[in-house]
Amino acid sequence: MKIKKAVFPVAGLGTRFIPATKAMAKEMLPVVDKPIIQYAVEEAFAAGIEQIVFVTGRGKKALEDHFDRSFEIEHTLKDKGKDDLLRQIQELVPKTGTIIYTRQHQPLGLGHAIWCAKDIVGDEPFAVLLADDLIQTDKPVLSEMVKKFDRLRASIAAVMEVDKDQTDKYGILDAQKVEEDIVRIDDMVEKPKPGDAPSNLAIIGRYILTPKIFDYLGKKKKGAGGEIQLTDAMKTLLKEQPIYGYKFHGKRFDCGDKAGFQMANLAFALERPNIREKLIKFIQEIQKDF
Ligand code: UTP
Repeated sequence: MKIKKAVFPVAGLGTRFIPATKAMAKEMLPVVDKPIIQYAVEEAFAAGIEQIVFVTGRGKKALEDHFDRSFEIEHTLKDKGKDDLLRQIQELVPKTGTIIYTRQHQPLGLGHAIWCAKDIVGDEPFAVLLADDLIQTDKPVLSEMVKKFDRLRASIAAVMEVDKDQTDKYGILDAQKVEEDIVRIDDMVEKPKPGDAPSNLAIIGRYILTPKIFDYLGKKKKGAGGEIQLTDAMKTLLKEQPIYGYKFHGKRFDCGDKAGFQMANLAFALERPNIREKLIKFIQEIQKDF
């Protein structure tokens, strides 16, 4: 069965970015000149996704406006002959009917946010993208995962090795390597202390899930941090269905974290020919003070 829908939970409070996130979702913060969410939406459409489900909280208006047409800006750009920019902002608007919004009334956790999309997703496998995990790669992660899903016909999460002292920030796996870049997950635990972690293999914000996950998310059991956790539901799903991990190629930036966000800006800006040189010159200058 084809993966047609992707759920984007964007209802977190983004407390690590207060005050920037007081009135706006952190997914609207820009990396270079694009909101973080746009990178992930482009990744989803490139992977063949046909419908996007945003689970929003605050900041809904800015997000909705971003993916909608702006006749005022279009008109001004046209008048000024700025055709490149005009094309850019027209192209970023998905086709009518391909974006659905639903609301998570209270930020009860990632698992709960995904559960809010249950009736829209229905009885089919679907993707989940956490936009604040921004991945720089020449093999877009979701496209690779869709290919793996076509073959494995089971849930898959993107995984990577993290520093051993950082396990309490991630869902951590007990897993066996079954192919070059695929592991079969035996167990998982949300945010374990380094001493309790079964490994340093962590789940990153890209998933393909079978609809069975909604049965467990629906139990609304609170886990780490008092939140309804996706990892806990996946752990229960494991008793019934296999779940695989895809060790993606590329560099991942945690844009929900201030340092990670700055690193992402630097890394993505260095890819832009028109600003690369200026940046390198600046880095060389300030390096003298390090
Ligand atoms: P985070 O764990 O980064 O939490 O959420 P957060 O609230 O966004 O940020 P901080 O920790 O307070 O700074 C991971 C993803 O899950 C979504 C977030 O929007 C983010 O994409 N999320 C989290 C929800 O949609 N709802 C929730 O209740 C919690």
